[in-house]
Amino acid sequence: MPLDISKQVVLITGASSGIGAACALALAQRGASLVLAARRMDKLREVADKAKALGSRVVIAPCDVAIRDDVIRAVQAAKEQFGRLDVAIANAGYGLRAAVHLMSEKQMEEIWRVNVMGTWYVMAAAAPIMIEQHSGHIIVVSSAIARRSIPQMGAYAMTKSAQLALAEAQRIELSGKSVHVSTVHPITTDTEFFQRATERSGKRVDGLGKTQSAEWVAKKMVRLIEHPRPELWPYAPVRYALAFAAAFPSLVDHLIKKNFSAEKNIQKRV
Ligand SMILES: NC(=O)c1ccc[n+]([C@@H]2O[C@H](COP(=O)([O-])OP(=O)(O)OC[C@H]3O[C@@H](n4cnc5c(N)ncnc54)[C@H](OP(=O)(O)O)[C@@H]3O)[C@@H](O)[C@H]2O)c1
Repeated sequence: MPLDISKQVVLITGASSGIGAACALALAQRGASLVLAARRMDKLREVADKAKALGSRVVIAPCDVAIRDDVIRAVQAAKEQFGRLDVAIANAGYGLRAAVHLMSEKQMEEIWRVNVMGTWYVMAAAAPIMIEQHSGHIIVVSSAIARRSIPQMGAYAMTKSAQLALAEAQRIELSGKSVHVSTVHPITTDTEFFQRATERSGKRVDGLGKTQSAEWVAKKMVRLIEHPRPELWPYAPVRYALAFAAAFPSLVDHLIKKNFSAEKNIQKRV
């Protein structure tokens, strides 16, 4: 039996745009109660108003996921306003383009703080509530890049692999407590992600290969909530390609070098 979405209280970090916002609206359409968290309050209010117009009960939480107290406050808002927390979606994050040896210490620390610590804060704050409830679902929005890094995206890929490592561990830790832990692995998705990454990197960042919409990812994530499972790959073929990549690293290095070499990308994108 699929879980009844209309009875779920769902926290989403990074709900002010892209996948987080699309998820909020897809869940609002199905009657979920929402706690929407992000830094840009104007954008967050726009998403909240749309969700309310769809009939959803919505609370907005100003939240920088790099600040633990902000995340704790957002999680507590679910308990205070709706009495429970059924689903916590650690979605906030950003990308960065730089060669490994050229990244600054500040860039490394910042991306780790937002993408990894921000995810861990959600996982750590949501788990005790869900354990006490004897039910819950923690969903971590990672990336397809978590399973294979590419040139210029080493720091970003590092954070996405780290999220996966945390989630794989927590999934087993909580498995006897009726709390699910899942990861989501989108391919290139049409959101503000590339604009933000370009601003942060000081050079242009584009997606690679096939592009999917945030709405498509959100639709699949609603299904993931209805039918919890360890991993969601919104574009399934890449999952099998990456299993192959893990078995043949030298060959895949060669293919990546040929198709997506740093030089080629620089020429194409700058
Ligand atoms: N787009 C892609 O191609 C793609 C592919 C694979 C995985 N992903 C992952 O999907 C997730 C969502 O990205 P997106 O594509 O939807 O990009 P997006 O449109 O740029 O959305 C990113 C969200 O994260 C929030 N955010 C960023 N830094 C934050 C911080 N310090 N504290 C709180 N919120 C913060 C932003 O809100 P505020 O700025 O308002 O705080 C925004 O709502 C990310 O984790 C990303 O790594 C994206």
